[in-house]
Amino acid sequence: MSAVTPPRLALTVLESREAVASHVARQLLADRLGPEPRPLGLATGTTMEPVYAALLEAERELLDGHRQHLRRHWRSYNLDEYVGLGSGDPGSFAAFMHSCLTGPLGLDPASVRLPDGQAADPQAEAGRYAAEIRAAGGIGLQLLGLGLNGHVGFNEPPCAATSCCRPVQLSASTRRHNAAAFAGDPAAVPEWAITLGLEEILAARRILLVVTGAGKADVLGRLLCQRPSPELPASWLQRHPAVRVIADRAALSGATSGP
Ligand code: GLP
Repeated sequence: MSAVTPPRLALTVLESREAVASHVARQLLADRLGPEPRPLGLATGTTMEPVYAALLEAERELLDGHRQHLRRHWRSYNLDEYVGLGSGDPGSFAAFMHSCLTGPLGLDPASVRLPDGQAADPQAEAGRYAAEIRAAGGIGLQLLGLGLNGHVGFNEPPCAATSCCRPVQLSASTRRHNAAAFAGDPAAVPEWAITLGLEEILAARRILLVVTGAGKADVLGRLLCQRPSPELPASWLQRHPAVRVIADRAALSGATSGP
C-alpha cells in the first residue's frame, strides 16, 4: 500500500498586502539584476498593482548602474490579453502594463511583451506568442495572481495541466470580477482572451503565486488542501518543483491546512 502524500506548496505569509508587495517587488528586481538570462513572466490584476508600485519605489533606491542595467536587460512576457483590445484601450492589459510599469520605469515598450489582442487570428497569435517565449528560452521567474475560481492567467476551470497558449472564453464570474476596468460593466469585459496555458506556466524555472485579501481566502484554502485537479487550475502548480505562494494574513484566514 503506498502512502498518500498530502499536497504541499511552499508558503510565505506576511502581515499585509503592502508587505507582500514589497517582498515580491524585491524578488522581481533581484531576478532582473541577477544572472537569470530568461525573461520574467508577468501578471495583471488588482493584486499586482501594489507589487508594481513597490517595484517602482524600490527601483528609485538602486544605484545608477543597476537602474541602467535594469532598463537595458528588461525582457518580460505577460500571461494574457483580452481578444479585441489594443494597447490604446484603457481596459487592455497592455494599457495596464504601460501605466503601472513600462511608462513610470522608462522601459522600452518592445521589451514588455503581451499577446496581441487585436490579431486577426487569435489562435495563430497564441501559437506565435508561445513560440516567441520558447525562442527566448522560456520564462525564468513567473509571477501569478489567483482568480476567485482558481484560475491562473486566464486558465478557467476545468483546465488540464497540458493546456497550452490559446484563446479562452471567460466565465461570467471572471468578467464580473474584472469589470472595474470597464466602468463596472461586466458586459463590457471582452468574452475572450489569449492566455498562456498551464504548459507554458509550469515550464517556468520558478513561480511566485501572490494572493492577498480576505476575498481570496476560500480559493486559497482550497488550493492548500486539494490535490491537483482540472476544477482548480492553480492546483497544477503543486507539480512544479519551485513554486512559492506569497500571501497576506487576510488571504490565509480561510485556509484550513498547508505547510
Ligand atoms: C485576472 C488575470 C490574472 C489575475 C487574476 C486575479 O483575470 N487574468 O492574471 O492574476 O485574474 O486578479 P485580481 O488580482 O484582480 O484578483
